[in-house]
Amino acid sequence: MSIERKDEYDHGEWLKEKDLTPIETTFLTTLIWLDRRFRIVDYLELLETLYYRVNLQMPKSHTEQYGLDNKFWYWYPLYALGSFSTIAYVVAAISGALLGFYYSPSTAGDPSTAYNQLTFIMTELNFGFMLRSLHRWSAQVMVAAVFLHMLRVYFTGAYKEPRELNWLLGIVLISLTMVFGYTGYLLPWDQLSYWAGQIGVEMSLSVPLIGEWVAQLLFGGFALTQATLQRMYILHVFLLPFVVTTLIAVHIGIVWMQGIAEPH
Ligand code: HEM
Repeated sequence: MSIERKDEYDHGEWLKEKDLTPIETTFLTTLIWLDRRFRIVDYLELLETLYYRVNLQMPKSHTEQYGLDNKFWYWYPLYALGSFSTIAYVVAAISGALLGFYYSPSTAGDPSTAYNQLTFIMTELNFGFMLRSLHRWSAQVMVAAVFLHMLRVYFTGAYKEPRELNWLLGIVLISLTMVFGYTGYLLPWDQLSYWAGQIGVEMSLSVPLIGEWVAQLLFGGFALTQATLQRMYILHVFLLPFVVTTLIAVHIGIVWMQGIAEPH
């Protein structure tokens, strides 16, 4: 059986009959124009069905199950730590993208181009000091917030069934947050970066059997060179942003599907 689409239906007449405001008319005309080309209403309906199906399958949250809607538990403010981590991440991402317009991951020169660009951002660029400070502070606030969020989840027992997988995903997230911090720490290519990098190389080399391979892979060799800075840069501004953004979305998606846990 084929489904007939009413593409020839005169929406113009229909809109006139409705006695709409100009804004409503513009909105609907645009929607109809787009729908005729991309069937967006069909896809929106599909999404809606999916939304209800997903919600039907999920277990009730403890709030629903025990009718706790109107009780205030004094630790509730700590339930904001996950959102706080997300906000810090967004601020770091935006300020980082803006810093990217001025930074250059090059070890050439003495001091290096990377360091010179940082100096430029801090001393000459309008609002540069503020931009870099925003980036560093939001990054550090994120690390602290993620750690405290993890403690909150642990002490309220929110990691228990059915939320085990989100706990494991959280472990991956906190690890990647720290890799974000470490790779970023090396980017100014100053003394702190350099010696932190040196420690990283030596830690990699201390891995049994595959140590040399690990150092090669992560640091581009056993000494700190252009290859090292370039790796840290690509990890920091390309790979990690994609992976962490996706994982945070999945993590929050799972919270949305399962509902928030009440303390056990
Ligand atoms: C980038 C790091 C992270 C972000 C952005 C994040 C975000 C969130 C958000 C927004 C929530 C909703 C509830 C709340 O805010 O407390 C949540 C819940 C949860 N998170 Fe995270 N989280 C992160 C890291 C972690 C870590 C490190 C763990 C543990 C290893 C974890 C485990 C969980 C669990 C089990 C829940 C469900 C809690 C409940 O239902 O009460 N998350 N997360």
